[in-house]
Amino acid sequence: MVDVAAAGVGFVDGLMVQGLYQVKPPLPYFPGSEFAGRVARVGTGVSGFEPGQRVMGLASSGAFADQVRVRAAALNPLPTDLDDLTAAGFFINYATALYGLRDCGHLEAGETLLVLGAAGGVGSAAVAVAKAMDARVIAAASSKVKREAALAAGADVAVDYSQENWREALKAEIKETGLQMVYDPVGGSLAEPALRSLSPGGRFLVVGFASGTIPRIGLNLTLLKRCAIVGVDWGGASRADPALNGPLMTTLLQWVSNGRLSPAPVSARPMNEVGAALSDQLSGRTIGKLVLCN
Ligand SMILES: NC(=O)c1ccc[n+]([C@@H]2O[C@H](COP(=O)([O-])OP(=O)(O)OC[C@H]3O[C@@H](n4cnc5c(N)ncnc54)[C@H](OP(=O)(O)O)[C@@H]3O)[C@@H](O)[C@H]2O)c1
Repeated sequence: MVDVAAAGVGFVDGLMVQGLYQVKPPLPYFPGSEFAGRVARVGTGVSGFEPGQRVMGLASSGAFADQVRVRAAALNPLPTDLDDLTAAGFFINYATALYGLRDCGHLEAGETLLVLGAAGGVGSAAVAVAKAMDARVIAAASSKVKREAALAAGADVAVDYSQENWREALKAEIKETGLQMVYDPVGGSLAEPALRSLSPGGRFLVVGFASGTIPRIGLNLTLLKRCAIVGVDWGGASRADPALNGPLMTTLLQWVSNGRLSPAPVSARPMNEVGAALSDQLSGRTIGKLVLCN
């Protein structure tokens, strides 16, 4: 049993409470899956944890609460380098970023990556992880304040994709380097121009559809651009292989400890504002990873 200090909110939580996500939990359902806090009590036969210990973890549900009960295997001891708010929003988005960029996309140091929705929770984590992998990162976002947040997360440059001709601004940024990878948690009308901007051998990572529209792209484009479209489903991959996350988290926490990875700033609000927080999340009004705190 963990006393929850803070819990991370993702776009998926907003979909889940409406029954619109691909995984539909049985009712009654208590939202919230990632959290940081302190161990309150330890069950019989559990070793490796003790009351008062700082932890971060994943629950199948119920983390938007004062306390959450989880299996010990779902917890990680929390290093002193990570504060509760950052840790609460770390697990899902950073694991997704490392799994997507490294394991699915094979991002190499020195390559140029375009991150769409770069000020969102998923996008800002991808910016931070790609910088830890020594990539050059171009952030794309719809407002000045969001582009500033993406730059604060570590992006090298930012482009405004709310402009009709945003691909021209992108072209100017990739004139010297080309574009080797796109990380797309937004979908909709942004996906095709981003894919068309890839250099030969480029990889387009399909991560999510926060715009609400799943893009339909002609496969001839992959032939003409000599590029690959790669699906990134961290949730599905970790359900299929529960051993996936241990090594991902070990690497990420090591990178935090040795200063290679600087997690992006988060936005915090009180736990009792959960309804408004979910609604802001779904309408794209939040900046950075949203975290609810007790
Ligand atoms: N593949 C995986 O393993 C995985 C894991 C976790 C999450 N996801 C998915 O990743 C996506 C992003 O999640 P998130 O938690 O990062 O969400 P988020 O924090 O709300 O960020 C999403 C971003 O999408 C952009 N956006 C464009 N149109 C939007 C609209 N109509 N409504 C809301 N946002 C809109 C917004 O940026 P601008 O205003 O700059 O356009 C926003 O910052 C979701 O589809 C989620 O399901 C996938």
